[in-house]
Amino acid sequence: MPQLGDSLTLPCGVTIPNRFLKSAMTEGLATPAGNATERHQNLYRTWAEGGAGILLTGNVMVDHRYLERPGNVIIDDNGGEDALRAWAKAGTAAGNHLWMQISHPGRQCARIVTNQPVSPSDVQLSLMGNFGKPRPLTAGEIPRIIERYAHVASVAKETGFTGVQVHAAHGYLISQFLSPITNQRTDKWGGSLENRARFLLAVVAAVREAVGPKFPVAVKLNSSDFQKGGFSLEESQQVAAWLDEAGVDLLELSGGTYERRALFGEENDTDASGEQLRESTAKREAFFLEYTGAIRSACKMPIAVTGGFRSRELMKKTLAAGEVDVIGLARPLCSQPDVVARLIEGNTDRASEVEHELRLGNGWLGPNSRIDSIKGLNAQAGVAWFYRQIVAIAEQKPVRPNLGAWRALFEHFRDEYRIGLRYRKLRKQR
Ligand SMILES: Cc1cc2nc3c(=O)[nH]c(=O)nc-3n(C[C@H](O)[C@H](O)[C@H](O)COP(=O)(O)O)c2cc1C
Repeated sequence: MPQLGDSLTLPCGVTIPNRFLKSAMTEGLATPAGNATERHQNLYRTWAEGGAGILLTGNVMVDHRYLERPGNVIIDDNGGEDALRAWAKAGTAAGNHLWMQISHPGRQCARIVTNQPVSPSDVQLSLMGNFGKPRPLTAGEIPRIIERYAHVASVAKETGFTGVQVHAAHGYLISQFLSPITNQRTDKWGGSLENRARFLLAVVAAVREAVGPKFPVAVKLNSSDFQKGGFSLEESQQVAAWLDEAGVDLLELSGGTYERRALFGEENDTDASGEQLRESTAKREAFFLEYTGAIRSACKMPIAVTGGFRSRELMKKTLAAGEVDVIGLARPLCSQPDVVARLIEGNTDRASEVEHELRLGNGWLGPNSRIDSIKGLNAQAGVAWFYRQIVAIAEQKPVRPNLGAWRALFEHFRDEYRIGLRYRKLRKQR
């Protein structure tokens, strides 16, 4: 029976030192041109010392014109290889792995970056007017984007990252291809599941080709989008089987999109097919665990599950029962960067719970406000709190457990607009 501190050998032959994966968290710490900085080194050195066998970077962008957020690291003819090397060295300081998450935001690209993002089809994300109407990608552009993913993977390998993860979850470009809601194409990239999954499988094949057979290639996939008519659990099961055949080393399961924030265990009032549940299910720990069995039965590759794991007991139990191979953790590592080492040693029973208390207020100002923009602001305040802890660690300052939601939101917007404006200025010059 596997234990939390046991090593795991991946299909590519590489061994990871224990069963914890620090899931990807966008840092927003890059220069306006998208180069890594010393702050990345500080942050990832701290996390490396914190004990997780694998650290995932935040999503690294494949195209400087389309970002998940200003301050993303970009690999697109913008130099910065030495900075990547320094980051990789610091992030593997404890003999752990550091894998680069590779992504393209598609339509989930804020207006501060562009008014016209790209997507499989022109289905706009309507969230407080923050996202422009996307332009459908032409058939000629799609193979070029696949090459971009492969290029970033080869740069990751060359600069010392020890693996890569293709981000196919959370409503970003690959996830947009997978969903029948956002992919309404009638060519070979849309329609049947086989066609909608073609982009993901082509990206994985190109990435594998770029890094060779002995380098870890992982994929983060939604167990479901939790949207009626969206990418479903049954579809996820089939895609997992295809990824297994494609030689993926680790499948990380998550769920949801910007519209259905299931990844954070929120709005869990639908089942995996998007059907409304009569009563909102009680908030569970490890929200996607109940869907893992179905996906696991369809494939042999190791599986990680991320989202809500907090108690050592549940982590130990699911691992021992063979339900998962690796435990993914994200938010707890923002305020407790060393929590993994303590969980492995048995010095703590739980990872941080603070995320459940983050809100701008109660009643109409609370996270269940009937006013959509208040709901949206609450969601942003929740995430902003974690962004601010990341900045604190990166600047080698103490974490700020008492930071209020309003303060976090203010500081986040202030920095985001500052770097966003510098990014736009640079874009005009490029
Ligand atoms: C501040 C922050 C940034 C995130 N950025 C990313 C990202 O870049 N890529 C990604 O796949 N998921 C991202 N996520 C989602 C996490 O990887 C994870 O799936 C989610 O937080 C649920 O896990 P948890 O309950 O352990 O926090 C982010 C989450 C947070 C809180």
